[in-house]
Amino acid sequence: MNITLRQLKVFEAVARHLNYTRAAEELFLSQPAVSMQIKQLEEQVGQPLFEQMGKKVYLTDAGKEVYRYSLAIEHHLSEMQMVLEEMKGLQHGRLTLTVASTANYFVPTLLGIFNQRHRGVTVDIEVTNRENLLKALSANTTDFAIMGRPPPGPELEYYPFLENPLVVLAAPEHPLASRKQIPLERLAEETFIMRERGSGTRAARERFFDEHGGIRFRKTMEMNSNEAIKQAVQAGLGLGVLSIHTLEVELMLQRLVVLDVVDFPIMRHWYIVHRKGKRFSAVAQAFKDFVLSESESLLTVPSSGSTSAAVPPV
Ligand code: PGA
Repeated sequence: MNITLRQLKVFEAVARHLNYTRAAEELFLSQPAVSMQIKQLEEQVGQPLFEQMGKKVYLTDAGKEVYRYSLAIEHHLSEMQMVLEEMKGLQHGRLTLTVASTANYFVPTLLGIFNQRHRGVTVDIEVTNRENLLKALSANTTDFAIMGRPPPGPELEYYPFLENPLVVLAAPEHPLASRKQIPLERLAEETFIMRERGSGTRAARERFFDEHGGIRFRKTMEMNSNEAIKQAVQAGLGLGVLSIHTLEVELMLQRLVVLDVVDFPIMRHWYIVHRKGKRFSAVAQAFKDFVLSESESLLTVPSSGSTSAAVPPV
């Protein structure tokens, strides 16, 4: 038997409509062309597939069988096409990410692993602070943002995937470095080096001190990067509050220490955020699934030595 996919497609249309004219219209063919395809198929099959009674067309028993198989073949073909398109998307797609400056201490690790699995994928990544992340989301110029919890609102969807403890850091020689259970009020005597306005770390720190008695500090300085703050704290200019994700190397090398302050760390979480109803490419969907299902096991949150209670995501 030597039948073609084209013959099956024409047959399927005639069988579905039980009408040669309508099938011809649907397929943009002439009616004689449709009749010819059916005739050739019947010759190959060796028996009639339709019978005509008056003006009506019926499927023969053989026709019913061929119809059943032609539907299954069509279904498999469209599934194959979908799978191939998805593979193409995953191999050559593009992913656009906007990442909080503080999250950029671990996002490259995640991207490295994702990239090993999907070699042809191109990633455009912008690193910026929280305020600019929210702007990128609202302008729809990014697939995802990786950031602290976004403000509530109807236009964003967000999912927590990793802890983000904010700690008080000091130079190892600082007089408080060896103290246990330092009361919050004691920090008021210190100079604090803060991130710039628009930073999520800064906003969380301000919220925390407002909620804990509105502590005001002796002196504050402002710097617009985590790296600058670490250098300044190391040089003895003051204390800082930063995400522990930024401190892995300095803690390991004992260039900085985490102070044991009552009610610290401020326990925040990292979120993958996108606009509600955003249509994802195959790559973007794969990245979201990857972050949510694997980041916790692939990343380690650096340890400060102090303990923290389980808290709901903030
Ligand atoms: P950052 O962090 O803006 O302080 O870098 C982002 C966030 O915590 O939301």
